[in-house]
Parts: sequence; structure tokens; C-alpha cells
Amino acid sequence: VSAQARAPEVDGLEPAPVTSRGKLLAALRCPACRAPLGEHDAGVTCSAGHEVRDGGGWLDLAASTPDRVTGRTFDSFGYEWNRFAEIQPEDEGYWQSYTADVPWDELRDGLGADIGCGKGRYSRPTARRIGALVALDGSDAVSAAARNLGDEPNVVVVRADLRDGALADGEFDFVSCLGVLHHLPEPRPAFLATVRLLKPGGVLLVYLYSRPEGGGLRAQALRSATALRRVTTRVPHQVLRPACFPLAAALFLAFVLPGAAGRRLGWRALDGLPLAVYRGSPVRSLWLDTFDRLSAPVEHRYTWEEVRPWFEEAGLDVLAARTWGGLMITARKR
Ligand SMILES: C[S@@+](CC[C@H](N)C(=O)[O-])C[C@H]1O[C@@H](n2cnc3c(N)ncnc32)[C@H](O)[C@@H]1O
Ligand SMILES: [Zn+2]
Repeated sequence: VSAQARAPEVDGLEPAPVTSRGKLLAALRCPACRAPLGEHDAGVTCSAGHEVRDGGGWLDLAASTPDRVTGRTFDSFGYEWNRFAEIQPEDEGYWQSYTADVPWDELRDGLGADIGCGKGRYSRPTARRIGALVALDGSDAVSAAARNLGDEPNVVVVRADLRDGALADGEFDFVSCLGVLHHLPEPRPAFLATVRLLKPGGVLLVYLYSRPEGGGLRAQALRSATALRRVTTRVPHQVLRPACFPLAAALFLAFVLPGAAGRRLGWRALDGLPLAVYRGSPVRSLWLDTFDRLSAPVEHRYTWEEVRPWFEEAGLDVLAARTWGGLMITARKR
């Protein structure tokens, strides 16, 4: 990657200038001694000379052996993102909804990190609007991410647990963490570790599963999913994945198609049907999320009132907090 390289043009946007790979590597930390990394003829090493393994388009910065629950979480997502491996056309629309409150104009030359990037479906559009991006994940999803992001000149893919300290604190202008923290046994310390990466004034984008207050169809559906999860989180992934297809198809027929038809015909009565975020997307999108919901070993759910203090106590000013399938929060570090 050269400092002059420029990302391909997307959506008629002027391509963002690309920060050099050297600058990205300098914001990464050696798993053995915490020194910054750099590129040499032999490959990537730290300033103390430790060599960093290249796993095939991604850097191995894992500094810890996963505990049992984390290991199961990484197995589940490693399988998921290598079986639902391609970035799909509908992912751009989801990305736009997630990032609607992010001030991209001020981030054009900035350094970003996508924490828990999965296959990189959201890292890619982010990389095209920011100077340079680290896409980090703890699981074998990094193989899929490396394939999907291989053509992006301003991206480095890293495998590490987000609690490993693989990224330098206080160096990043933008950090996204989408659908990740609620899968950790203790989300709050992981949230604080993520916030620490930001420079003062840096922007954080977080997506967390929400918990509906009161009754209603969504609350009932979530109770059923929670009951199902007692079994499905133990089922082998290669069995669960095909089994999720008929379930997703039934949900699609029962809720998504009528909701989409209601929207087209202007029938407000159908607006309240669940799974509204899938209206206009193909069934594969709901199939993926059905597998995701039923397979990941740990799942926490929050109300905005519960997590609002996290932001205040971490020294963040909330720019926007919305509900869209879950809680979507954009905030700025003071
Ligand atoms: C639901 S997926 C979301 C992926 C991506 N952000 C997206 O929205 O497409 C959650 C991801 O977080 C990763 N993850 C979970 N716990 C992690 C941890 N402790 N450290 C790093 N990554 C983690 C998983 O491997 C998985 O790829
Ligand atoms: Zn080192």
C-alpha cells in the first residue's frame, strides 16, 4: 500500500485519501511485547524484532488462549462468516441505516477500527469513507474478511480478542462495534476497552441487541427464541444452519412479506408486524440472522435506559441513539 493509493470510487463519492499502511501498523501492538508494528522486507515485525504471523491476508495478533465460552463463541462465528461468506447487495443498505448519524465528512482522513468485523460486510463501506481502517475479529471470520477486504487498499485485517490490547489506546478517530459486545460474558469491560481506543473527539458507533419493554409480539417472539437457544446453541453448526432455513422462510412468509406489501399499499395496520428491518431484503438475510441468533453461545439484551450510564461514565457525549432492530448509538469521546 502506498501513501498515494486511493480507494475505488463508490456511490459517486470522491474516494477518500488513503493513509499509509505504515500508519495503520504503527497503531497495532505486538502480542509478545506491546511495541508498535512496522513493515520490513521479512514481513511485519514489532520494533523489538518479534515477527507477526500472516494468516493469509490477516495478521495474527491474538495474545491469549480463549476461555471455554469465548472459544465456543469464536467457533460459532468462524463457522457463520465462512459459510455466509460473501458480502451481499443488501448489506450496503443495512450499513447506511447503522451509520446514518456518523459525521463522515470529518473522518475522511481519519484512522478507524471495526471491532468484531465478522466477514467485513460493514468494514468495506466504512473503509471507503475514512482514511484507513483496522478490521479486527477474534474468530476465523478473519479469513472471510481478508477475502472480502483484500482489494481495499487502506484496510488491515487483524485476528485478536478485542480484550487482547492489539490496538493502541487513544489512536483512533472512529471505532465501530456492531453486534459484538452483547455476545461477551461481560460486555461492559469490553465496551470500556473499545472506548479507550478513541482519541479525544473521536466517534464511536455501537449496535447492541435491545430488549422490548412490556409485552407484545416481539417480546413473545424473543421469549420463544430464548427457549429455543437452550437447545440450538448445543447443536452442531452444520446441522443448525440448514435447519434454520425453513424457520427463516416461515418467518419471512408470516411477517416480512405482509409487512412489505402493507408498506407498498399504504396499509398502516401492517406497520407493526415484527422483523420490519428485513422488508425489501431477500430471505437469505433473515436465514443468516436466524442462525446467528440461535447459534451464538452468549446473548445479552438491553434497554437504552440501562446502557445510557455506560456512555456517561466512559466520558462520551451521545450524538444519536435510535432503535432499529436493536440499539444504535453514535457518540463522541469528550
Ligand atoms: C454478530 S457478529 C457481527 C459481525 C459484524 N460486525 C457484522 O455486523 O457483520 C459478532 C462478531 O464479533 C466477534 N467477536 C465476539 N467476541 C469477540 C471478542 N471477544 N473479540 C473479538 N471479536 C469478537 C465474533 O467473532 C463475530 O464475528
Ligand atoms: Zn514485540
